Amino acid sequence: MCGIVGYIGCSEAAPVLLKGLKNLEYRGYDSVGMATVSDSLKVFRGVGKIEKATENLDLRTLQGRVGIGHTRWATHGDVSEKNAHPHLDCKKRIAIVHNGIIENYKDLRDRLVEKGHEFKSNTDSEVIAHLIEDNMDDAMSFEEACITSFKELDGSYAVLAVLRDDQKIVAARKDSPLVIGLGEGELYFASDVSALIEWTKDVVYLQNHDVVVATAEGDMSFYNLIEEQEVKRRRDTVGWDAEQARKGEFEHFMLKEISEQAETVSRAILQDDEVIERIIDEVRRAKGVFFVGCGSSYHACLAGSYLFSKVAGVHVNLVLASEFENYEHFLTDETLVFAVSQSGETADVLDAVKAAKRRGSKVIAVTNVVGSSLMRAGDMMLLMNSGPEICVLSTKTYTSQVVLMAFLAYALAGKRDDCTKSIRNLYMDIFNLTSKTMREHLKGLAALLVSSEHIFMIGRGLQYATALEAALKVKEVSYIHTEAFAGGELKHGPLALIERGTPVFIFVGRNNREKVLSNAHEVKARGGVLIGISEQDEEPFDMWIKVPECGNFNPIIQAIPMQVLAYELAVQRGLDPDKPRNLAKCVTVL
Ligand code: AGP
Repeated sequence: MCGIVGYIGCSEAAPVLLKGLKNLEYRGYDSVGMATVSDSLKVFRGVGKIEKATENLDLRTLQGRVGIGHTRWATHGDVSEKNAHPHLDCKKRIAIVHNGIIENYKDLRDRLVEKGHEFKSNTDSEVIAHLIEDNMDDAMSFEEACITSFKELDGSYAVLAVLRDDQKIVAARKDSPLVIGLGEGELYFASDVSALIEWTKDVVYLQNHDVVVATAEGDMSFYNLIEEQEVKRRRDTVGWDAEQARKGEFEHFMLKEISEQAETVSRAILQDDEVIERIIDEVRRAKGVFFVGCGSSYHACLAGSYLFSKVAGVHVNLVLASEFENYEHFLTDETLVFAVSQSGETADVLDAVKAAKRRGSKVIAVTNVVGSSLMRAGDMMLLMNSGPEICVLSTKTYTSQVVLMAFLAYALAGKRDDCTKSIRNLYMDIFNLTSKTMREHLKGLAALLVSSEHIFMIGRGLQYATALEAALKVKEVSYIHTEAFAGGELKHGPLALIERGTPVFIFVGRNNREKVLSNAHEVKARGGVLIGISEQDEEPFDMWIKVPECGNFNPIIQAIPMQVLAYELAVQRGLDPDKPRNLAKCVTVL
């Protein structure tokens, strides 16, 4: 996912931009660039990681106290310097950086080429610079040209635009996040708070269709393209500090965030009673409830669908966000959709929300990011309170999502206090599961598995959701092919995959212990090596990860040692657990 930063104020912009881009590295990228404004536009672009791309860059060549920067995660156009942002207009007076996708860029580009514009890249984003130039050629001011141009863009954008010899930044957002940090006589722009929090905790979140003109004096004027008028936006204060967004004493964000779960699980239930009441009223009134998410969020939705059934007797339709369009036909204004996304920016989820809105359905946004597109799109929202999750892998946000699902199920059943008590009782169990002792045990287990070509995982009911999540953790961070199956499915095909020495994890819950142990015996009989996750060691196990039995809260407890194991596998395979290959923290493209 691309990241954008901007600065305008009393210091040289380039060093601030570079630091801001480094703070956005976790989003995943393949090229980087900056532009600063002085009597001309000074532009730098490079391919690869920031250290590599800027190793020969002398920041003094990027003079100016106004600047914009970009980390690119290629969607349109290959990974190359010409496709890196910032993009310029023909006269090299305008520079823009963009996060999102311009869906009508081809038509716009054809029209501009006909008018004589020359394009240098094969990206969608470059069209924005030429569109602004074209409108300025029609005697518009820079600000007017920007506003007119943004109105013509279909798709999603968070854009920063600057003009040579003009001490201002024009910023705009539609369906891609953009936040402004308020300093002393200086302003910071970024795709998310973690890029600018080391300078300020006072922020303004742009709303959808907002355009902001910011001047070197620190003044800002807000205009909304839909309301077609000047608007006011409130100042917020970020609830966490730069320290939280840094690694602390941990080598990687992944381990830091795993270790925070005793706290974050407890924080997830700190919800506004009135909001919970309104949400469960909506569930009771709805004719059809959907849980929609991707990846780990989908696994949390699966666990949630079991809990809604078991605890509250409520039926929920569980759907992958990318498949939701197949259900659009029978959505009505009585349908309720829970859109679950820790980042609040996953394109598949935002697309599903748009489909639901088209049919008049109500949307409950379940997210971890204040000011995210999902939060703004929802009719109501539930925040996970997990704090910043920098690692590409979802760990603490996954368990917080499961907590929220359980909390809603128990609230529906009129047993919210029981849930609160049970969650609070997990504190020490989670603390122990993230302790150094447990980590040493799992380090040893990882050493036995580190050269595996395949790993399989089996569970039933809530443990099946955990098996899916555990398999995703291991595969995405260690690159070992890992798959999960519902225990009852084993004989319908997957059993053919078991050979002598194949490692198979068995997730055991007291409620379906006998059935899943019979699956374990089937695997054992074919030479599989069994690793049990259970409250007690069982006869067929070759290795055992001891976890407390927590009934409906097993999906929280049993996921944690698997997160640690996945982390250890990645480290022992010499990989960076925070930035797995080919992946980004947030998938903002469909
Ligand atoms: C989880 O470890 C992965 N990083 C990925 O599957 C993730 O859960 C998925 O992309 C959904 O992200 P979201 O919760 O931000 O929507």
